[in-house]
Amino acid sequence: MKMFALVQKHDGYSGTSEGPSILSCEPWLEPVTIDVPKLQEGQVLIKIAMASVNPSDLHFIKGEYGQPRVKGSPAGFEGIGEVIDGNGSYAQSLKGTRVSFVVAKGGSGTWAEYAITDAVGCIPVLPNLRNEDGAALIVNPLTAMAMFELVKKTESKSFIMTASNSQLCKLLIGLGKDADISPICIVRDAKQGDHLRKLGATEVLDSTDTDFTKNLRAIVKNLKPRVMLDALANQLSADIFMAMPNRSRWIVYGKLDTTPPVIPEMGQFVFSEKVIEGFWLVKWFRETEIGEQMKVIKAVQERFVSGNWKTEVSEVLKLHEVMTGLPTALKTDAKVMFTPK
Ligand SMILES: NC(=O)c1ccc[n+]([C@@H]2O[C@H](COP(=O)([O-])OP(=O)(O)OC[C@H]3O[C@@H](n4cnc5c(N)ncnc54)[C@H](OP(=O)(O)O)[C@@H]3O)[C@@H](O)[C@H]2O)c1
Repeated sequence: MKMFALVQKHDGYSGTSEGPSILSCEPWLEPVTIDVPKLQEGQVLIKIAMASVNPSDLHFIKGEYGQPRVKGSPAGFEGIGEVIDGNGSYAQSLKGTRVSFVVAKGGSGTWAEYAITDAVGCIPVLPNLRNEDGAALIVNPLTAMAMFELVKKTESKSFIMTASNSQLCKLLIGLGKDADISPICIVRDAKQGDHLRKLGATEVLDSTDTDFTKNLRAIVKNLKPRVMLDALANQLSADIFMAMPNRSRWIVYGKLDTTPPVIPEMGQFVFSEKVIEGFWLVKWFRETEIGEQMKVIKAVQERFVSGNWKTEVSEVLKLHEVMTGLPTALKTDAKVMFTPK
């Protein structure tokens, strides 16, 4: 059986650190018609209904992610579709099931008509879950849930987020609002403020505003946030962290900017008991027992189906439009999705 796919042009890592922006797809992706790969024991073949585009996909195709590329293999980590074949009894039992999934090691990516992954990692979805939510059910929602647990454990009544107009931060704003823990959102475009406030942000600060530092200090003094969830990992992040109270935690989970920070007051790690740490969903999966994972996944689906959460989609591209359309589509304010046809 043949399929149309966007395959990676390179193997391994690139050694660069340019971040998840692309001006053109040509250096990283090739549109091709290839044989659908053969299923290994425990794997399923999924007919893709919709695939998402996450910053991790862009880091990955550029050779800057935490796992090596495989030349000639379809890109794309996450998607939703129907299981049409399986190797092994459990995998076979999923035939005909609509599932959300991320591609496991040894699988075949979602930016194609068909994808392959481990049957055990597939999440059968509720019939009324929208494809837009199902194609982005795992990477951002589980990260939001897991990081929000870290926020709750600190007992801080507020938390700061950088790059707050991201889909992930929009989910975190909803969690903060429902738990009465105030989200303080840092953006780089003041126009995004109204929408984030409607979602439940308590404060939205534009980092390009000349009064940013003064406004930040006032908010920190008032709300005393002791956690920063940070996707930038740059000088702005460091400056915000230096302004936060004693015993604050800086949790880095993304690297959207490429210039590393200088930390001017190292004494804060000694005398103010501040801590910098990282979060990676892959590690959360490794360290969280399966029963707990299932509970979180159920809660995620319920939030989407009930309308408490919504994946905001700005553009849906057909696979054959991606090579020319993706760089421009990525300039919008919400998620880009792919459909096979
Ligand atoms: N560690 C993990 O396990 C994990 C899991 C999931 C996601 N993540 C990370 O979470 C982050 C958000 O993911 P997402 O899918 O929600 O992203 P997204 O919806 O694609 O949004 C990305 C956001 O980042 C902002 N941004 C990009 N570069 C920036 C820069 N240099 N300075 C300031 N803002 C910048 C954009 O701001 P504008 O709107 O102003 O352009 C946009 O709002 C990414 O870094 C991703 O890699 C990590």
